[in-house]
Amino acid sequence: MEYEIIRKSRVDESDVKPNLPDYEKMRSEFSWDSVRRELDGFENGWLNMAHESIDRHANSALKDKPALLWEGKGGEEESYTFSELKALSNKFANALCGMGIKKGDRAFIFLDRIPELYVSLFGILKIGAIAGPLFSAFGNDAVKDRMFDSGAKVIITNPKLKKVVDNIKGDLPELKHTIVINKNNRDDFKPGDGETCYYSVMENASEEFDIVKTDEEDLSIMHYTSGTTGKPKGATHAHRAIIGQYATAKYILDFKQDDIYWCTADPGWVTGTSYGMFGPWSNGITQVIFEGGFTAKNWYGVIEKYKATIWYTAPTAIRMLMKAGDAIIKNYDMSSLREIYSVGEPLNPEAVVWSNKVFGMPFHDTWWQTETGCMMIANYPSMDVKPGSMGKPFPGINAGIIDDDGKDVEDGVEGNLAIKPGWPSMFKTYWKNEDLYNSRFKNGWYITGDRAKRDVDGRYTFIGRADDVIISSGHLIGPFEVESVLIEHPAVAEAAAIGKPDKIATEIVKAFVALKDGYEMSEKLNREIAQFARKKLSAFARPREIEFVDSLPKTRSGKIMRRLLKARELGLPEGDTSTLEDD
Ligand code: PRX
Repeated sequence: MEYEIIRKSRVDESDVKPNLPDYEKMRSEFSWDSVRRELDGFENGWLNMAHESIDRHANSALKDKPALLWEGKGGEEESYTFSELKALSNKFANALCGMGIKKGDRAFIFLDRIPELYVSLFGILKIGAIAGPLFSAFGNDAVKDRMFDSGAKVIITNPKLKKVVDNIKGDLPELKHTIVINKNNRDDFKPGDGETCYYSVMENASEEFDIVKTDEEDLSIMHYTSGTTGKPKGATHAHRAIIGQYATAKYILDFKQDDIYWCTADPGWVTGTSYGMFGPWSNGITQVIFEGGFTAKNWYGVIEKYKATIWYTAPTAIRMLMKAGDAIIKNYDMSSLREIYSVGEPLNPEAVVWSNKVFGMPFHDTWWQTETGCMMIANYPSMDVKPGSMGKPFPGINAGIIDDDGKDVEDGVEGNLAIKPGWPSMFKTYWKNEDLYNSRFKNGWYITGDRAKRDVDGRYTFIGRADDVIISSGHLIGPFEVESVLIEHPAVAEAAAIGKPDKIATEIVKAFVALKDGYEMSEKLNREIAQFARKKLSAFARPREIEFVDSLPKTRSGKIMRRLLKARELGLPEGDTSTLEDD
């Protein structure tokens, strides 16, 4: 179905002038060097993401401007200015130095969205260590795999999540320190061996700290991301990432100094760091951090209460809001909103049309990845929105659609979405996996792993993944991770996981399981395996459906043919089955 283009008001008619008023003009004039000059790094001769995000403003007229407006799960409220965040992250940097943590060490954060998470992360960056934020929803194995692979020396957590750390620390020889943030009960924590109370070290630490003079190529932050095979990979970024994050936040999120910005993403996900920390704060913007969970009431309540002007969220949440109905919106004042954005999964054209109806503005889709570090393709406030399109490449980004040999395909033809390397936020490596990193480049392109097409007007449309990676509620899930957990169950002989289309979550994880001899298929066993997987995997990666099968279709070389299982599940043609092993 064709959707009508949503006409945005002309730039000269609108009250707020967009930072990017003319896309073509900006594209022809854009230079990353001039962006660099807007940051301090160019003059300093060193670049540090914490300096650009926090200290730069704390040393300027913005020092008393609120950077972080926090609302806790229980309705608690806290507010921090740029200078307060500078002082606190300095203290934390001193505390880490006191524990012997040095430049290049990996320091992981396993917390809910509390202000101390942000303080810790900037403290880590200030000493030149590499920050690894983890979702608080992660189970034992998810945390263990990431901590083990990265060789993290320190983990910052809370008393509840520390139980996970206690379960796995025997398997983590390089972990030396557990810093515990007992926010709600500060006097009630007795540190055990290798444990440190956050508030005690912070109390004794100085507010003065000289940021380690990191080079722009020094590593800064790592996010584990899933591929088709193997365990999750640590996509690791350098301090130069801030250049791309600053520029895209300025020109796509279109920040103005009095904006109140709300990014709903958790920092366990790259959106929650690139645009939940670095993008807005390097622009000196006030942002709301909401620790609570999703309900339509909660979310509309946050926008009304904080008078949010810019809102960045994801399609699964948007679909849940659509499901909650239009009537509820009338109970809230949404008039503060100026621009709204989405990322992480395909954004249905219906959702764009819906938002235009109920909020009076369309969601602007943006496309990027953990590896790209910042937005690559986007819809801009000054541009008309074509529902279903991800928009156009950011000025300074060269995107292309290429065939499997690396050659350009014509407009309108499906191919591999690729980006010309060299943009500042491009990831620097997959941790200890240089071969895999190199395999992502071909014929002078970075191959994204997505299939897409470009329309004649230069807009890009997402088609799907080129691999078996499952996208559920915006999270990438490697089928192999799910399968590895399932086969740990004593009854499971082999398992395969696929993404099954879902109206709300884009896809849900469906698993096919063949049992070992001596085990009977039953409802009870099905539930037991589901529970087993739930304990080990994060909430979004757990299989929501498990189907027992006698055996799994495999290639002659023994690879599970997930593509075939998916085609059968969806009633689609089975395609080429020539490599299928004989029964
Ligand atoms: O498949 C694309 C999908 O999410 C993948 C990247 O996931 P991740 O590294 O977790 O980063 C997500 C947040 C930036 C992409 O390869 N994806 C991301 N944005 C879109 C999308 N799919 C369709 N439309 C989008 N706008």
